[in-house]
This record gives sequence, structure tokens and C-alpha cells, in this order.
Amino acid sequence: MFKSLIVGNWKMHGTAETAVKLATQLAEDWNADTVDSAVEMIVFPPFVHMSAVAAAVAKSAISIGAQNVSEYSAGAYTGETSAEMLVDQGCKYALVGHSERRAMQNESSEIVAEKFVAAQNAGLIPILCVGETLQQRQDNQTVEVVSGQIAAVIERAGLQNVCRAAIAYEPVWAVGTGETASPEQAQQVHSAIRAQLGEAGISTPLLYGGSVKAANAAELFAQPDINGGLVGGASLEAVEFLNIAKLIEA
Ligand code: PGA
Repeated sequence: MFKSLIVGNWKMHGTAETAVKLATQLAEDWNADTVDSAVEMIVFPPFVHMSAVAAAVAKSAISIGAQNVSEYSAGAYTGETSAEMLVDQGCKYALVGHSERRAMQNESSEIVAEKFVAAQNAGLIPILCVGETLQQRQDNQTVEVVSGQIAAVIERAGLQNVCRAAIAYEPVWAVGTGETASPEQAQQVHSAIRAQLGEAGISTPLLYGGSVKAANAAELFAQPDINGGLVGGASLEAVEFLNIAKLIEA
């Protein structure tokens, strides 16, 4: 069945107490009795809060994801977390290629592709993040940049495997800035991604991210190739995040 996804990326925010409080508030609202099973909610807490958050959402319909995953399976990689460890913690998804990590941790498309493969091999569903900078948009390179980022993963993982994942289009200039792509701008890129994946990607969830909030989500989610949202700042507020989630058309 085709799934739409609503993703809350908590980034590096919160204490164990605030993380569990937020997770508990979401879990009270988002359970099998109340929600459409065609829309899956996933929260991405900081690693140190993961097991506490997993316990808080255990009886709900909410899944857990990891904000990052190592490209290695085990070994002397101080500070890293393997895909297998994440599965062991109850994770179902992993973000790969988030623009903050591409920019600040120097993650190249090749490293992102390795992380994608490591996550998928361990049984995680990768959410591959792609997007252009403001300069690249102004230079009319948006589709070229995004399709290149996806092509690097297709080359390493294979098209069929990329199509079993989810892809999040997040223009770098819209992430954490309060600026959002217009629904038309987002749809244009989403339809290019859909075309790039071809027949195999007909039911690959394509998410939009970048300053999504309840006030702009309905128009974005109404676009034919937008199948959900990757929400940062607005996912730290339970009511706001639930309001966004309820705007997704399954
Ligand atoms: P934002 O973050 O909603 O705060 O722009 C989105 C993201 O980083 O995934």
C-alpha cells in the first residue's frame, strides 16, 4: 500500500524529560484508533533520548528514526552509531544526506550513498535528503543538483533499492530559515524526481522539507507528487506537528 510519511526531525534539541513529554503527547493522539494507517508518523530524536522515546511511543502508531547512521557496520569509529545498533534500539528509518550534515560534516554524495546502503542492509528504511543551495537555484541548477545527488545513490545502491526508500526534497535555503519553497517550486522538483525514478518509483514516498508549518503545509501536501513532510522546527511543538500531520492526504 502506498504510504505518506510525516517526519519530525528533532535535531539537537531537548533533554530526556522534554523528549519523553513531546513523544507522550504525540503518542496520545497518534494511535491505531485515531489515525489513517496510510499516513505514518516518524520521530527522529537525538540518539541519547532514543530508547526513552521508543518506550514512550511503544503503544502508539508512531515509528522511530535515526538522524544519522554510520557507513560502517562495526569497528574503531569513535562516536559513531551503526545501522545494526539503531535497529536494536527499535529504529525503523534513518535520515541520510541531511543538508546540515552534508554542509557541516562534509558528507559527500559518495559517503551519503555508503550510509544509504549500510542502513538498508541492516533493515532500516533510508530517507534520502536532497536539495539545492540558494546560489544553485539562482543559477538554474536546481534539478541538475538534486538529480545528481540521487544519481550518486542509484549508482551505488541500484535503482530498485533507491525506490524502496523515501526521498525528501529539502531546498537548503528553506531549511531552518522560515523560507519555504512555493508549492509550485516544490512540485516542479518532485515531479522531476518522480520522472528520474521512472516506473520503479511510482510509489516511492517523496517528502518536502524546509520550514514546513501548519500554515503552509496544506498547499504543499496538495501537490500531486508531494507525499508528506520532513519537519524540523515545527516538530518540536506537539500540537503544531499533529496539525501538520493531519493535513496530509493519504
Ligand atoms: P525546518 O527543518 O523545518 O526547521 O526547516 C527541516 C529539516 O531540517 O528537515
